[in-house]
Amino acid sequence: MAFELPDLPYAYDALAEGGMSQETLEYHHDLHHKAYVDNGNKLIAGTEWENRSLEEIITGTYQAGAVAQNGIFNNIAQLWNHNQFWEMMGPKGRSMPGELESRIKDGFGSVEKFKQEFTAAGVGQFGSGWCWLVVDTDGTLKVTKTENGVNPLCFGQKVLLGCDVWEHSYYIDFRNKRPVYVQNFLDNLVNWENVAERLASA
Ligand SMILES: [Fe+2]
Repeated sequence: MAFELPDLPYAYDALAEGGMSQETLEYHHDLHHKAYVDNGNKLIAGTEWENRSLEEIITGTYQAGAVAQNGIFNNIAQLWNHNQFWEMMGPKGRSMPGELESRIKDGFGSVEKFKQEFTAAGVGQFGSGWCWLVVDTDGTLKVTKTENGVNPLCFGQKVLLGCDVWEHSYYIDFRNKRPVYVQNFLDNLVNWENVAERLASA
C-alpha cells in the first residue's frame, strides 16, 4: 500500500504566533512533504521495498557516503522526517514537562546549554539537513546534526526532537537567518509534551 501524506496535526495558521507562517506551512507540507511522499511511492513501486515500513526502508537503504545517489532513501527518509517534524511543534506557549527538563539538565548542565548546543548544531550543518536531540545507543541524551535526509534511525538512535534546517523551512519567515529560526523553534514552536512522550517510550 502506498504511503500517504498525513494532515498537519493543527490548522495552517496555528504556528503563526510562534513565528512559522501559514504560507510556510502551505509550501512546506503541501508541496515539499507531498513531493517526498509522491516520489518515494513511485521509486519503491515494484521493488523489494514495496510494502515495507518507512523505518525498514530507511535503515535498509541507508549507505553512509552514498546518500546523494540514493533516491529511495532520500525521499522515504524525508517523508518520515517531516511526519515527525509536524508532531514536534505546536501553538506557542508550551512548557517543558518536569521529567524531560531534569533529563536535559542531567545531560547538558542546563536547558539553556542544551538550547545553545542544539542551535549550534543547526547552524553548523553545512547546506541542507537537520539537527536533533536523540537518545543515543548508550542511553544518554545527545545533540546531533545530519545532512540532507539522513536521520538518527540510521545510527540506531531514538529521536526526541528534530529541526528541519533546509532553507524551505525558514526562508519565507526568516530569510537567511538560520540561527534566529532555530532559536525561535526552541523558544516558541516545540511541543515539549511530544518530546516528553518520545522520551518516555524510548
Ligand atoms: Fe522540510
